[in-house]
Amino acid sequence: MELIQVKGLKKSFQDTDVLTNVSFSVNKGDVIAVIGPSGAGKSTMLRCLINLEQVDGGTITVEGETLVGDGTYSEHVKVKNITSKMGMVFQSFNLFPHLSVRKNLTMPFMQVKGASKEDADRLAESLIGKVGLSGKMDTMPSTLSGGQKQRVAIARALMLNPDIMLFDEPTSALDPQLTAEVLNVMKQLAADHMTMLVVTHEMSFARDVANKILFMCDGEIAEEGTPEEVFRHPKDRRTAEFFGTSSGNRA
Ligand SMILES: Nc1ncnc2c1ncn2[C@@H]1O[C@H](COP(=O)(O)OP(=O)(O)OP(=O)(O)O)[C@@H](O)[C@H]1O
Ligand SMILES: [Mg+2]
Repeated sequence: MELIQVKGLKKSFQDTDVLTNVSFSVNKGDVIAVIGPSGAGKSTMLRCLINLEQVDGGTITVEGETLVGDGTYSEHVKVKNITSKMGMVFQSFNLFPHLSVRKNLTMPFMQVKGASKEDADRLAESLIGKVGLSGKMDTMPSTLSGGQKQRVAIARALMLNPDIMLFDEPTSALDPQLTAEVLNVMKQLAADHMTMLVVTHEMSFARDVANKILFMCDGEIAEEGTPEEVFRHPKDRRTAEFFGTSSGNRA
């Protein structure tokens, strides 16, 4: 079942064309790694999906509902409803620094879902356990390591019960050990059949966990395929050059 379909997405900032023609689809249960050089438009593409940026053209449908059709946005309520099906995790964690872990998780949940404090606490405890941070509920984000902050950010996104999780380089601010902690949580999510679209430079995660790779370059998806196809037998010259030149990362 197709959860996201993107067709002909276009986005410019002033006179820079960042997304020129982005098309791809995400099926239920897919773990898709989005790889590509700096400035390719990977973050912009994710931000357009959850309406943090507005596209200039193209179509985005989520679970069959039109977020934007041929450059025209659906009404506000519908856009909000559609974007609420997606959770996002950012490179820089984006926790509320003045709120405890508990409140980081429960406040958005209570506000968005109108849930009781008891229900919010119960779910938060369970998700914080799932990311391996039981016992950290009443600490402040500033006392956590980067990897712990990122795992709180993942738990916070999961509170809203998304059908799709979007990740924008979730480990690139972390050292290798903390990266591994976060990747383990993401692997567990994948094993639980969460649908995930992950912008990453972690080639081993892309190779071992993703079922599909999107190689993004020059504002478009230059190539897509299985990890084997894209890493071992790239068809597009730009893909081959990218993996050929970044030999340290080679899968
Ligand atoms: N708000 C903005 N205003 C102007 N230009 C922007 C804005 N956001 C992104 N850009 C430009 O769009 C281009 C693509 O940026 P984007 O952050 O999407 O790339 P990326 O593929 O995520 O790169 P990286 O791997 O470095 O994160 C860059 O040239 C960037 O400078
Ligand atoms: Mg980026």
